[in-house]
Amino acid sequence: MTEQPEIRFVGLDHDQKGTVVVLVENELAFAASGRALDKQTRGQLMKAARVGRFNGAQKTSLELICPANSDLDRVLLIGKGNGTGGASSDWVELGGSIMGQLVARKAGDVSILADVASGPADAPEAADIALGLLLRNYRFRKYKTRPSSDPAEARNGNGNGAREILIHCRAPEAAAEQMKRRRALADGICLARDLVNEPANTLGPVEFAERAERLADVGVEVEVLGVPEMEALKMAALLGVGLGSERPSRLVVMQWLGAENRRAKPICFVGKGVVFDTGGISMKPAKGMEDMKGDMGGAACVTGLMHTLAARKAAVNAIGLIGLTENMPDGRAQRPGDIVRSMSGQTIEILNTDAEGRLVLADVLCYAQERFKPKMIVDLATLTGAIMVALGKEFAGLFSNNDRLAGWLKDAGDATTEKVWRMPMDAAYDKEIDSKNADMKNIGGQYGGSCTAAAFLKRFVDDTPWAHLDIAGTAMGSNRSETNESWGSGFGVRLLDRLVADHYEG
Ligand code: BES
Ligand code: MN
Ligand code: ZN
Repeated sequence: MTEQPEIRFVGLDHDQKGTVVVLVENELAFAASGRALDKQTRGQLMKAARVGRFNGAQKTSLELICPANSDLDRVLLIGKGNGTGGASSDWVELGGSIMGQLVARKAGDVSILADVASGPADAPEAADIALGLLLRNYRFRKYKTRPSSDPAEARNGNGNGAREILIHCRAPEAAAEQMKRRRALADGICLARDLVNEPANTLGPVEFAERAERLADVGVEVEVLGVPEMEALKMAALLGVGLGSERPSRLVVMQWLGAENRRAKPICFVGKGVVFDTGGISMKPAKGMEDMKGDMGGAACVTGLMHTLAARKAAVNAIGLIGLTENMPDGRAQRPGDIVRSMSGQTIEILNTDAEGRLVLADVLCYAQERFKPKMIVDLATLTGAIMVALGKEFAGLFSNNDRLAGWLKDAGDATTEKVWRMPMDAAYDKEIDSKNADMKNIGGQYGGSCTAAAFLKRFVDDTPWAHLDIAGTAMGSNRSETNESWGSGFGVRLLDRLVADHYEG
């Protein structure tokens, strides 16, 4: 896990040292603490801003080295813009962009003056900034044996990143209290990123399950089912995917029973965990195949989410279920034309072994419903390349049998910047997967691949409110953002933590 700098919350009048970050709004509105610093430096801040034509616009900054009449290393004016200013996610983004600036400048000790002229420097905003700092600071450097010379990679592990960051705000104790929840969230997101970034040679189904077992540390009850147990449950759809792999499949069940009534119906989160997807006998082309180490992004999200919910002691009964397997070509691998009987009893003709994610989910969805009778299920999967054709890398595809749940997810997406876009479910897509030789086939026609994949999943869901998130475009390889520089994004953890907080707690 990434080494993170220490973050402390202090009052606005607390001593400043090292690099001081001053937030500035458009038209050069300085908050009170910024004005005080300007006065102390005999107007240098204002003058520099004017000379540097810095006007506080969002995503701009100005650096003042060794300001006179102080022993500060530098003052960093960071443009906050006027924006809407109100949204929590705006402050998280701001924290992210501050960290980007700090890392690039190899700042050591840092003071962030979190007040802005127009608004609050109160507990939630200060904690949101801190969340942004942590998310932006994440790197996957586990396999780098030499310290990086790239300043953008410079970090505390190499002795040239931020050591201690003070966030100066109006209500530091309250901010520290609110930070506990954000810390749980940051840790869950970084865990999900770590899992996605980890290559498949060191993260097989067994290793992934072992990593999930460590959630016991935060109070999650973890069960790992092996191949014999899954055989006994007749999970031939899931197990068929792993037949070509030397490494045995696993099903992990993570339970966090935090609701007042531990027996109240839970909500379930289901994740696709294909640790590597070669396509199997219907093999993928070589170009870009390395990205298929991230084909367990759904399972990574569910694991990170369960960490977060437990670490922040969410008042909810939540179950995370992940199907872990590897799709490889081999003498024992399943073939196009094979027919398997899924746990639900429905038979599936496999016409393309590369459409394996739905086979994994079919059995895990069935198991989740039979065992837990949940009041809601969300599954996440890097399911189809087609979702990127439809939505690019900005939105995850959302499919649901329930308008209310779909609306809640849309709102949670808007609030967290993990955006989802609803896609159609329709009998016409369902018809496309009818098979001559079995109950269904595992691929549809040439077009609408994400929709036929969702139609396939729907055949394994009863009338439980259910949503499927196709995260093939968002779980990995997204454009760098203010809150992430690594390949794995941890997409879905923030979104679903928010969904739980808004609708399933208390
Ligand atoms: N894991 C892939 C989908 C994927 C592609 C995820 C690119 C992330 C990036 C999935 O198992 C797959 O191979 N889907 C096929 C389905 C097709 C065979 C019907 C696809 O999208 O091409
Ligand atoms: Mn595939
Ligand atoms: Zn896949």
